[in-house]
Amino acid sequence: MKLSDEMTTALNDHITLELAASQFYLSAAGWCEVSGYDGGAAYLYAQADEERAHMLKIIKFMNSLGVRAAIPAVPQPDVNPESLENLLSMSLANEQSVTASINNTLSLAYKLPEYSVIDLLEWFATEQVHEETKFEAILQKFDTIGRDGLAVAEIDKILASSTGGE
Ligand code: FEO
Repeated sequence: MKLSDEMTTALNDHITLELAASQFYLSAAGWCEVSGYDGGAAYLYAQADEERAHMLKIIKFMNSLGVRAAIPAVPQPDVNPESLENLLSMSLANEQSVTASINNTLSLAYKLPEYSVIDLLEWFATEQVHEETKFEAILQKFDTIGRDGLAVAEIDKILASSTGGE
């Protein structure tokens, strides 16, 4: 089974976004590591792996249909936050842009229609709800716990204990 050219382009574009997200989180994890946020580093290294798995899920799906996925190059991420909270806000914004891409691609699948991709894209749409909620919940902790040094250290511990437990 083949994909339409339009859907092939949309999926290849989304592969690029997932790779960019993975590289973003890799850079973000590095920032945490050199800033003394070990929990944030562990959390974001795991997130980088998760994004790479998302990219692979689409690549393997396309290849299984006999449409070879394009392997993208992405620009070096520029991640220089002012604080851990700022970094997590950037992460949420990143997830929101991935969600928009998935929703647009799902709309395209219904419009064409291209039924073979709908299950895959619905999985991603659900996953994006989870991804956004995850970062919103962490960000909320700055309001509930605080923003002074001790509070941020506590949030860093929460990130450490959340790693791999999604
Ligand atoms: Fe794969 Fe977090 O988007």
